[in-house]
Amino acid sequence: MRLIRFRLNGDDVHTSCPSHWTLLELVRYQLKLTGTKQGCDKGDCGACTVLLNGKPVLSCLCLAANAADQEVTTIEGLRPAHLKAGGTGSDPIQEAFDACGALQCGFCQPGMMLSARALLNANPNPNREEIQEALSGNLCRCTGYTQIVQAVETAIANAAGTKAPVPAWQTDLDGEKN
Ligand code: FES
Ligand code: FES
Repeated sequence: MRLIRFRLNGDDVHTSCPSHWTLLELVRYQLKLTGTKQGCDKGDCGACTVLLNGKPVLSCLCLAANAADQEVTTIEGLRPAHLKAGGTGSDPIQEAFDACGALQCGFCQPGMMLSARALLNANPNPNREEIQEALSGNLCRCTGYTQIVQAVETAIANAAGTKAPVPAWQTDLDGEKN
């Protein structure tokens, strides 16, 4: 067993786990933060993405010991951090994914949203290519990615006070009506 002290979603955590455990196993099975998904468990899908010191990492490939004395953010930490910063509701990325219907089964969403949050923290105004690049490690088997990219563009537009793209589901509905 290994003792680990780190910051998790803004709180100090002092815990222990087997030395060979990954960060994914620590947060999901020891600390019960099940928003972090165990997909491929070998670095392919991005479902296990968390932020380590603000940067996206694949927690299935990161030993829990590597989080010692570091700052980890899981999907459960986005809303509290947003509220603490004076915001209302959920993180604007979460709101935009909801508004754009950028999910189906939801399995990829925590990782997708954390990658998007890290992108916008580093660059509040990325272009579409930069969004696609930032999300390229997060696989989605359901949506086809259009709404996901639109959701990030919507969060950007909402923050800038500019016109948000019309969600794909809306244009589809309009198309059906026309
Ligand atoms: S579960 Fe980590 S990359 Fe798929
Ligand atoms: S919404 Fe199902 S995998 Fe992305």
